[in-house]
Amino acid sequence: MESPFKADILKGKVALLTGGASGIGYEISHQLGKHGASIAIMGRRRHVIDSAVSALQSLGISAIGIDGDVRKREDAVRVLESTIKHFGRLDILVNAAAGNFLVPAEDLSTNGFRTVIDIDAVGTFTMCHEALKYLKKGALGKDLVSGGTIINISATLHYTATCYQIHVSAAKAAVDSITRSLALEWGTDYDIRVNGIAPGPIEDTAGFSKLAPEEMLGEEVKEHVNLRKVGKKWDIAMAALYLASDAGKYINGATLVVDGGDWLEKPLR
Ligand code: HXC
Repeated sequence: MESPFKADILKGKVALLTGGASGIGYEISHQLGKHGASIAIMGRRRHVIDSAVSALQSLGISAIGIDGDVRKREDAVRVLESTIKHFGRLDILVNAAAGNFLVPAEDLSTNGFRTVIDIDAVGTFTMCHEALKYLKKGALGKDLVSGGTIINISATLHYTATCYQIHVSAAKAAVDSITRSLALEWGTDYDIRVNGIAPGPIEDTAGFSKLAPEEMLGEEVKEHVNLRKVGKKWDIAMAALYLASDAGKYINGATLVVDGGDWLEKPLR
């Protein structure tokens, strides 16, 4: 689908995306790149990163891939240093790395719960924390007027409650809270905007195939969504472009729900 945004809205900007090599994260990498940003992707799987970087480069997008696990602070530091070494600056951090599996609460071990909290919530905090010095106004390549921006990918699971997702729901609730706290502190202190995106049912993603049981795929899922259609990764990437660009320059601390109105109907089911 064609973008409604001008092709140069992120010209000269550098974006680092955790989980940016696959699924929703990749589509955000793709669209930020298509709109002028240079892209650094952080991920755990080398072959997945390599194919994402090749795909971006074949579209004329300046891109690099760096191995790293958001659960390890030393990886966060190293990936940020490599990004700065390669591109000279950082303007946009997108935290899209996430862990997810379906499990009834009574069968989930403490370590299973902790693992998802570590990836989604602690990982998001660590990446933001280590990126701060590069995102501040006046940092490398930046003027003294405006700082960078952060986008945290969340979910709508925790707005009501979702079966077999106690760990992910708790983690994403924490992510939303981190978004607001950092927006409050870093907006005032450093002119850094921190926002989130909460995707609903987005086709062709790991989250969708895990959460929508096979017998519910297709028409039945659509019937449960307020707008009667499932979303596309493109919809999430457009929201990211909006928040990352000057179009969103007065938005701070918001988590934009991009779900076709899906969660509004949940309490009635
Ligand atoms: C129960 C499980 C489990 C499962 C792992 N665990 N998978 N418990 N059911 N299916 C438990 C393990 O038993 C272990 O606990 C602990 O979790 C750590 O597991 P490991 O396999 O050692 O961890 P690791 O190799 O680090 O992998 C972490 C992972 C990750 C979370 C399992 O690999 C993963 O989920 N990858 C999938 C990524 C993914 O789907 N991303 C899309 C996210 S979509 P014990 O006690 O045995 O030691 C998303 C959107 C949500 O987030 C909203 C959509 C609308």
